[in-house]
Amino acid sequence: MPATSADGLIDVRVTAIRYAARDTHLYEFAPLDGRPLPPYEPGAHIDLHLPNGLIRQYSLIRAEPDPSSYSVTVKRDPASRGGSRYVHDELRVGRTLKISAPRNNFPLVEDAGHVVLLAGGIGITPIWCMVQRLHKLGRSFKLYYACRSRADTAFLQALEAIGHTQFHFDDENGDKVLDIKPIVSAAPRDAHLYCCGPMPMLHAFEAATADWPRGQIHVEYFTPKPEAEKKGGFVVELARSGQEFVIPAGKSILQVLLDAGVDVDYSCELGICGACEQRVISGTPEHHDAILTEEEQASNTKVMICCAGCKSERLVLDL
Ligand code: FES
Repeated sequence: MPATSADGLIDVRVTAIRYAARDTHLYEFAPLDGRPLPPYEPGAHIDLHLPNGLIRQYSLIRAEPDPSSYSVTVKRDPASRGGSRYVHDELRVGRTLKISAPRNNFPLVEDAGHVVLLAGGIGITPIWCMVQRLHKLGRSFKLYYACRSRADTAFLQALEAIGHTQFHFDDENGDKVLDIKPIVSAAPRDAHLYCCGPMPMLHAFEAATADWPRGQIHVEYFTPKPEAEKKGGFVVELARSGQEFVIPAGKSILQVLLDAGVDVDYSCELGICGACEQRVISGTPEHHDAILTEEEQASNTKVMICCAGCKSERLVLDL
């Protein structure tokens, strides 16, 4: 029986904190009840429900899941919205908190002919998990890992030992960031390409891969896309209960449903975790999440209700 409790969350204790790089710590969590933790695949993340009320997503970093503990790596973000600052300043060995079961919006295609991985800064965390798996399977892959400096580089020695990695340190390159275009141009056309890093890197990656088949391009956002203005004035209908709600300007569908006491899953409220996904029965959502692929968004069969608007007058959800 996995350790998930009635609220879908898992009570864990911080069992270890280790230095990983400058301003970057590795945190290990073990379940309070000792029951096995759910398994996961590379690219998966968990939500930390921090005791200060914030919910934050962090990638699991071990490719071989250990049912007795999870590990994540957290960099203190100088522009922290409160999550990484709290983790660094308040989480100590012995503290308890709740976490979600793993969720994976960034799965690895393990049998691709070749895999190109691009990581920027702390964006290495899901990618590091993929490196371990690809290395273990003996697959063809190459990692391009950009950091401000060596001191900021998590998993440096482990990656040097594995090989297949080209590092780029901005401070050793006249403060120039990694140029993604030539990397993408040189990749075999049947390769699968993965990128996780800061927003400018993701934008450069998306521009460089614009003419690639979308199924071969994989991006993990760990900060939200710029928030779209929340236009209101449409109706959301819940098909199963028959309830209807008018969504006013400035409010998300999720906020309106929660205010009305509707029991729906959610976590980040930023369109980056996938917890609030709902099936669309009719209507045309205006997608603002960073989870659904272009094809999924165009199909209008599912929607992240924490950030979506609506192009039609009515949106009917399977809820
Ligand atoms: S709550 Fe995370 S995507 Fe909506």
